[in-house]
Amino acid sequence: MWLLGVLTSLDLKTLLVFFFVFLLIADFLKNRKAATFPPGPFGLPFIGNLMSVDGKHPHIYFSKLAEKYGNVFSVRFGSETSVFVTSYKMVKEALVTQAENFVDRPFSSMATRFYHGPTNGLFMSNGEKWKKQRRFALSTLRTFGLGKNTMEQCIREEIRHLQEEIESEKGQLFTPTGLFNNAVSNIVCQLVMGKRFHYNDHDFHVMIKYLSEVLRLEGTVWGLIYDAFPSLMKHLPGPHNNMFKYFDNLRDFLDLEIKMHKKDLDRNNPRDYIDSFLIEMEKHENSDLGFTEANLAYCSLDLFLAGTETTSTTLMWALVYLIKHPDVQVKVQQEIDRVIGQNRLPSMADRPNLPYTDAVIHEIQRIGNVIPLNGLRIAAKDTTLGGYFIPKGTSLMPMLTSVLFDKNEWETPDTFNPGHFLDADGKFVKKEAFLPFSAGKRVCLGEGLARMELFLFLVGLLQKFSFSVPEGVELSTEGITGTTRVPHPYKVYARVR
Ligand code: HEM
Repeated sequence: MWLLGVLTSLDLKTLLVFFFVFLLIADFLKNRKAATFPPGPFGLPFIGNLMSVDGKHPHIYFSKLAEKYGNVFSVRFGSETSVFVTSYKMVKEALVTQAENFVDRPFSSMATRFYHGPTNGLFMSNGEKWKKQRRFALSTLRTFGLGKNTMEQCIREEIRHLQEEIESEKGQLFTPTGLFNNAVSNIVCQLVMGKRFHYNDHDFHVMIKYLSEVLRLEGTVWGLIYDAFPSLMKHLPGPHNNMFKYFDNLRDFLDLEIKMHKKDLDRNNPRDYIDSFLIEMEKHENSDLGFTEANLAYCSLDLFLAGTETTSTTLMWALVYLIKHPDVQVKVQQEIDRVIGQNRLPSMADRPNLPYTDAVIHEIQRIGNVIPLNGLRIAAKDTTLGGYFIPKGTSLMPMLTSVLFDKNEWETPDTFNPGHFLDADGKFVKKEAFLPFSAGKRVCLGEGLARMELFLFLVGLLQKFSFSVPEGVELSTEGITGTTRVPHPYKVYARVR
């Protein structure tokens, strides 16, 4: 009664000031951290450090914070504070040594709107549902990797199509992005829906455009802002709305494909991931493990989202570095000529005999840094990391840039140097800190397939063509950063060898 009396006697201005001070104090109290919590930059009330993040290259901003605050530090986005983990040793400690503590993904409003629920698909699901779906996807990959119509065979056939398309450019300048996207996407198409698309197919082009736009937009600052203020952003105009629209369009595309698969499903002869999933669904009618038609669409979409742009972007970086280092390009071609020749298609059995080529591919993946941040994780229980206390429920970002450019692990971290993966006798050497696919229980599910694609496609390309740019053109290595880091658009000559 007393407080009500005081409040009603105040004018509107004073009331607003009172309310604002109240919000400030509440914000301060809610976001106060213990002295043992990882340090980080001072954040403004309500928005934290959102406005300080370099929207163009967030990973560079976070790398600078690591120099200032150490390998475990914190950054506040809206009302959420995330812990960033950097350096090979600390990332390994979080993802491998403390694997059980950091296996799950945190809740994300953006993902919940994408997947129409918090734990659908392969990338964002958690617990038993994630375990079961991951295991099922891996075993399907294995089945179609080893069976009659092996993934290796699919890739070798796709090389032919890619080579033909490049040859049809007749040595003129062309942009390789679309062709690489088509080729790589066709491999996921074969895996998921048992078919490939012609490079001129309109629907295929639209699908690929939506895939790369969703990935680009969710990795920009719009993604961060959406996750920080979902109730507000839902009603505001902006590019973030497009990513939801595109995601729903992709889902419609897959729903149609699933419908067609159901029509001519042969239970004794599954052709692909969709068939295998439909068959598996019959065993799980009453379970809660995600074997539903809706989740089939989301898991398939995740395979496309995670498996297309990552791989084709790596091929794009490969051309950038091979053109910038023509001596390396020639050396790879000489090795291929010696071991395979120019007519026989490459196979995975050739890899051990091509150590220099293998080292170059690894170095391209390292310096290309296609996923500069990583998938977010959440602490399942109170724990400590690098001497700091990490309370249960804290979001954790084990940053891959910090591993692939770790000064303690790489001789010349900022320079393209295939020697990072070669010993004194020119033999290929594995490097522990080579983690472009991350590590631990949630390590990239498609790592084996991606490595096979990168090897076969690159060897197939360099076997047939020499790549260059016009005199005086300098390709940029800066990149455009979203969820993936993509090279600035460029055009190349492909001279038939
Ligand atoms: C060069 C190519 C690729 C790179 C650099 C890459 C990298 C990554 C990274 C860094 C993660 C996050 C792991 C984590 O949170 O710790 C991831 C997850 C994932 N990747 Fe890849 N990836 C590539 C290709 C592929 C391919 C070809 C597929 C499948 C067709 C695929 C499917 C997935 C899936 C489903 C996940 C989620 C795994 C989970 O949460 O359990 N990726 N990938």
